[in-house]
Amino acid sequence: MKRDDIPLLRESLPYINKFSGKVMVVKIGGEIADNEDNLKNFCEQVALCVRVGIKMVLVHGGGKQATALSKKLGIEPKIVDGRRITDEKTLEVTKMVFAGQINTDIVTILRKCGLRVVGLSGIDGNLISAKKRPPVHVDGSKKPIDFGLVGDIVGVDVNVINVLINGGFTPAISSLASDDDGEVYNINADTVASAIACALKAEKLILVSNVHGVLDREKNIISKLTRSLAEELIEEKVIAGGMLPKVQSAFKAIENGVRSVHLINGLSSDTLLMELFTESGCGTMIE
Ligand code: ARG
Repeated sequence: MKRDDIPLLRESLPYINKFSGKVMVVKIGGEIADNEDNLKNFCEQVALCVRVGIKMVLVHGGGKQATALSKKLGIEPKIVDGRRITDEKTLEVTKMVFAGQINTDIVTILRKCGLRVVGLSGIDGNLISAKKRPPVHVDGSKKPIDFGLVGDIVGVDVNVINVLINGGFTPAISSLASDDDGEVYNINADTVASAIACALKAEKLILVSNVHGVLDREKNIISKLTRSLAEELIEEKVIAGGMLPKVQSAFKAIENGVRSVHLINGLSSDTLLMELFTESGCGTMIE
């Protein structure tokens, strides 16, 4: 830190006071966990947040890494309409990568940053209950497509999370779930993070990916996205593709008790601290 940076600490103090003791759910996209330096920078920021008293809850998936391991093992990923079909073999890979490799990496790095972290999946402590997604019609298909072992969330029990965060532990959750019959499902990590944030009535849900935030017509970052602007941009297809479900689930989270949702880029350094502890932030904020 330089002398000139000290005034920034003054800007941050009100936010540190405001957020201390609050719960924030942070979803980390696979691309952040894919690069060691990136993951390290991100985890250091998470550690700082915990140090100032924020109860951080991490959620991650790892679609990119799952595709890579599938290829290594000679399992061809089947993608229909941009969505992965999860058969038995693909689910095995998902379990290895989500609950194994990525979760262990995140827990280890955060431990090195001085945190007490507990790695778990949505299966642990009955955190996420799911049911199989029924076959759906996708564009151009005559008969409905069965996406296999992809689940939809039917219940969230955050008891285990409360026990951990109130005991001074930071939970790192991989986006797997199961039903009462012992079937395991692969669930979209954004969806899991949002469901947990709603159940915890979190102060913030922070979606960390490889984009800077929601972009407007001129491709500038929208600092604060209102519902009416979002509706316009969806109508004009400016918000489209992978951003559309993110924005839609952000507004759903707000309706269900989350104070604010933030989209930030985890591939640039220090974006989490900038978003939380400066007035203007660096990503998109939705309230
Ligand atoms: N630091 C403040 C907060 O987290 C404001 C963030 C503003 N962010 C933005 N993208 N406009 O509540």
